[in-house]
Amino acid sequence: MSYTIVGFGKIGQALAHAFARKNIDVTVASRRPPEVLAPQARAIGPTVVARSLRDALEADTIILAVPFEQHREVAKALPDWKGKTIIDAMNSLAPLEEMDGLLSSAFAAKAFTGARFVKAFNHLIAATLATDPVVEGGHRVVFLSSDDEDATAPVAALAKQLGFAPVKLGKINEGGALVHARGRVWGPLIFQDLFKKEQ
Ligand SMILES: NC(=O)c1ccc[n+]([C@@H]2O[C@H](COP(=O)([O-])OP(=O)(O)OC[C@H]3O[C@@H](n4cnc5c(N)ncnc54)[C@H](OP(=O)(O)O)[C@@H]3O)[C@@H](O)[C@H]2O)c1
Repeated sequence: MSYTIVGFGKIGQALAHAFARKNIDVTVASRRPPEVLAPQARAIGPTVVARSLRDALEADTIILAVPFEQHREVAKALPDWKGKTIIDAMNSLAPLEEMDGLLSSAFAAKAFTGARFVKAFNHLIAATLATDPVVEGGHRVVFLSSDDEDATAPVAALAKQLGFAPVKLGKINEGGALVHARGRVWGPLIFQDLFKKEQ
């Protein structure tokens, strides 16, 4: 598997720390050129490498860590997203009527034609997500939801590799609704910093 984080702000950098902690290669990209992002990437760890957006999108698994309203711009970068898994770490507080009545992940997924779309890593504030998810006797929980059941397993495997305890919530519109902002109301699992005990 190859990984890219699109968006190298608070959440993108928090996730880059998680990859660096486990020595897993990840490319990072934003609208700024890679040479501008490179010092910050290097400072996080040697496995974090800045690339142009176009080059970074060669990865098969792409984490979206851009402001929600930018997802369409990112989607335009490839003619189709077949074969790619998108991990949606974005949150939107836009009223549902502005999103065709859909939750934000279902709305964003429409822009990434052909991609497998999984929501994850969105429910914690960046400062928390950046810290080591392994504590004595337990692992920080991340919630996964997707309308494509087959897409969830590799993202759960990645979360585990990064030291998190993945918890599957089911479909976006079902269990996944618990980690969505609905209109201006945060879902009840957002901001819940939970740990799962070692079995
Ligand atoms: N901050 C949190 O605690 C938190 C928690 C959970 C979820 N989230 C979600 O995570 C997402 C990112 O939030 P953030 O706080 O990390 O924002 P941020 O600090 O403002 O970072 C956004 C990043 O996206 C890049 N970007 C913007 N438009 C882009 C585009 N069209 N193509 C490529 N890169 C683009 C920006 O870099 P350039 O300007 O160089 O392009 C920047 O690196 C949001 O959807 C937010 O709702 C945030």
